[in-house]
Order: sequence, then C-alpha cells, then structure tokens
Amino acid sequence: MRTQVAIIGGGPSGLMLSQLLHLKGIDTIVLERQSREYVLSRIRAGVLEHGFAKLMREAQCGERMDREGEIHDGFYISDNGNMRRVDLHKHSGGSSVVVYGQTELTRDLYEARDRMNGVVIHNAEDVQPHDLKSDQPYVTYRQGDEVVRIDCDYVIGADGFHGVSRKSIPRDVLKEYEKVYPFGWLGVLSRTKPVSPELIYAKHERGFALCSLRSQVLSRYYIQVPLTDTVEDWSDDKFWEELKRRLPVDVAERLVTGPSIEKSIAPLRSFVAEPMRYGNLFLAGDAAHIVPPTGARGLNSAASDIYYLYHALVAHYKEGDDTGLDNYSAKALARVWKAQRFSWWMTTMLHTFPDSLPYDQKLSQTELEYLFSSERAQGSLAENYVGLPF
Ligand code: FAD
Ligand code: PHB
Repeated sequence: MRTQVAIIGGGPSGLMLSQLLHLKGIDTIVLERQSREYVLSRIRAGVLEHGFAKLMREAQCGERMDREGEIHDGFYISDNGNMRRVDLHKHSGGSSVVVYGQTELTRDLYEARDRMNGVVIHNAEDVQPHDLKSDQPYVTYRQGDEVVRIDCDYVIGADGFHGVSRKSIPRDVLKEYEKVYPFGWLGVLSRTKPVSPELIYAKHERGFALCSLRSQVLSRYYIQVPLTDTVEDWSDDKFWEELKRRLPVDVAERLVTGPSIEKSIAPLRSFVAEPMRYGNLFLAGDAAHIVPPTGARGLNSAASDIYYLYHALVAHYKEGDDTGLDNYSAKALARVWKAQRFSWWMTTMLHTFPDSLPYDQKLSQTELEYLFSSERAQGSLAENYVGLPF
C-alpha cells in the first residue's frame, strides 16, 4: 500500500489532520490500534477553545458542534465554599469557550472520514514506523497473521501518550521533561441535570473538585483522589457524598445525583518531548505533550499542532515550500510550553498537595486572593483559558 501521509492514531489529532488534508487533495491512511467502539467509549475533554472549533468547521465537521455545543462566557472558582466568577468574555476581549464533548467530536470526525471514503484502519496491531531518516519511510502493522506495509512520504505520530511513535525516536535525540502530580482525578458521568450552567472549579482542603457538563441532561464531575485509589474504592454514593463536601453548601444542596454511567481515574501529569520532529516523523498532540486537565488545555494544544502541521503539509505538497515543516517543532513547542505553564499554575493553585508546607498553602491561597483582586490577573487567566492565538 502507498499513501502520502501515514497517520498513527485515530484519536482527535489523527482524525482531524486526516480530514483537513483530504479536503486539500492529500492522501492519508489512519492506523488505530483500538476498535471504533472502544475509542468512542472514552470520556475525556469537554471544553474547546474557539481555535479548535474553527478547525472543526474548516474540516467540515462543525455542524453538530455548532448546534449542540454550548458557548460559555465564564466559570466559577470556589474557595472553601466561597464562590467567585471569572468573566472570560469581559477579560479576554470578547472571547469564550465551547462546551462539547471529545467523544462527540471524535464521532463527528469518524463520520466525516466515512462520508469521504477516508481510510481508517482499526485494530491495527504492532504498528511500527521505519526508515524515518530516509525519504522513503514506511509503516508496518499486523492484522491477524498478515503484516501489512504502507509506504509514505511522512509519518505523523498522533498516537497519544502511550503510543509507539515517540518511542521510535532514539533516546539520545529526544529530551523528555516530566512532572508527575501525587494525585489523580476520579471522573463520573451521570444522566442528571448539571448543578450549574457554568463550570465550577472548587478548591477545598479535602481536595479539588470540578463540576462540568456535556449537555443540560448530562453532567460530568471530578474529584481529586490519591493515586493509590481505584474505581472500586468509590461507590456512586461515596462519590456524591465527597463531591458535596467540597462544594459550597448551596451548590451541594441543589446537586442532583444519579447512577454513574462512566467512572474512571486519570493520573495527573505534565510532560513534553522535544523535538517534535525526527526525520520524516512528526509528533502531534498527546504523543508529544501532556498537561493535567485543570486548565482544559490538552486537546486544545493538540489542535494547534494539527493546525501547524496541516498548513506545513499543504505548503509542501501544493507549493513545494518546506519552511513550515522545518519550523514545525519550534513553533509548536513555543505554544505547548505556554499551555504547560498555565495548566501547572491552575493545578497548583487549586489542588491540595499531600505533605505541602504551610508556606506553600499560604502561597496558593494568596494566588487566589491576588487573582480576584486584580483585573489584569483575571485577564491573564482568561486569555490562556480561551486559548492563545495559534
Ligand atoms: P489520544 O486521544 O490519546 O488519541 C491517540 C489514539 O492513538 C488513541 O485512539 C489510541 O488508541 C491510538 N494509539 C495508541 N497507541 C497506538 C499504536 N501503537 N498504534 C496505533 N494507534 C495507537 N483537553 C482539553 O483540551 N479540554 C478538556 O476539557 C480536557 N479534559 C480532559 C479530562 C480528562 C479526564 C482527560 C484524561 C483528558 C482531558 N483533556 C482535555 C485532554 C484530551 O483528552 C487529550 O489531550 C486528547 O485526547 C489528545 O488527543 P490525541 O488525539 O492527541 O491523543
Ligand atoms: C470536562 O468536562 O471533562 C472538563 C472540563 C474542564 C476541565 C477538565 C475537564 O478543565
């Protein structure tokens, strides 16, 4: 088999790039290790910046997002029961975010790929990129007993944090920066009316909590838990009790509880791999960088990688101009690190760290006090949360 661009990973990054390139007449094949049902059962991001939404429209996948997604002009931060609002619209110069689930967005991208007869190969086992330094790279994968080879011009590693692409870059070339946080988020999805029309990020001495939503009948809640906890440790009743304790009393009183329809624990991690290019392999999204979800930056950082790659590949194929490909890593990393900084800052300010010094606790308290005493500090939060320009 031959294609122009072989894309490893059928998550939002890989599908979005495939779709955008297709619309410019550039041929791609997407290799996904899991079944489509499995990919669509993962519950992840909920908040999209407008840059991402714009890219969805450009990919001709924005119709349902525009119909069903909610525009949010602000969110709340609760500090041990005291709730204050961050006005994103006011402080970002008129911008906002879109609340639309990653699961739905991925479904829209798969449907668009199907509609245009895009090739997405599921259950591709042992995917392996080869000869990345040559101008004839190729990718192999196994399906049953058969090993299939795909020759290509470029390989895109969009296979998430645990994928094979980053690992195929030699150790002495790749530099990894990592910070692991001593807690995770236990997330629950329930078919209940959301407790608040806007998100509530709650700082509490018992640990952080987040009230989010997917629609007016579907709620998404998270609580900070120790890394040693498992989903089995948390019955639905225990989860709702703990969530209520971390929210302001009036919010807790109006919280509608119900059976969980999904429950999972995500460890929190900050991670960046540099460079994001090795020969003719380009890394994108979670394959190259991870943020803790507190600032809702992960998927949005993937979007800017895809935007840069998309334009660089179009310039290569249509104009013979390789500047975008040559500058890709440096350009993407400049924005990636800003998302890292913001996510680390939100995480540090809002979580309870085991064994933290009383000094550190005072500092994170002061950070919040400063935030709400300064229009400029809220401006900084807002411009990062709605998304820095690509
Ligand atoms: P992935 O979604 O990880 O997709 C990679 C794909 O590659 C997967 O389908 C995987 O099966 C496949 N794959 C892996 N290995 C191989 C292989 N060897 N061969 C072939 N295929 C392979 N981000 C936000 O912007 N806003 C939010 O509100 C937000 N909330 C979040 C909440 C939680 C609880 C979590 C965990 C994350 C959140 N994120 C958020 C982050 C966001 O979900 C990720 O950044 C996003 O999924 C990255 O997309 P991706 O396509 O790069 O990687
Ligand atoms: C979510 O709805 O899943 C979500 C929202 C905001 C975040 C993280 C996750 O910061």
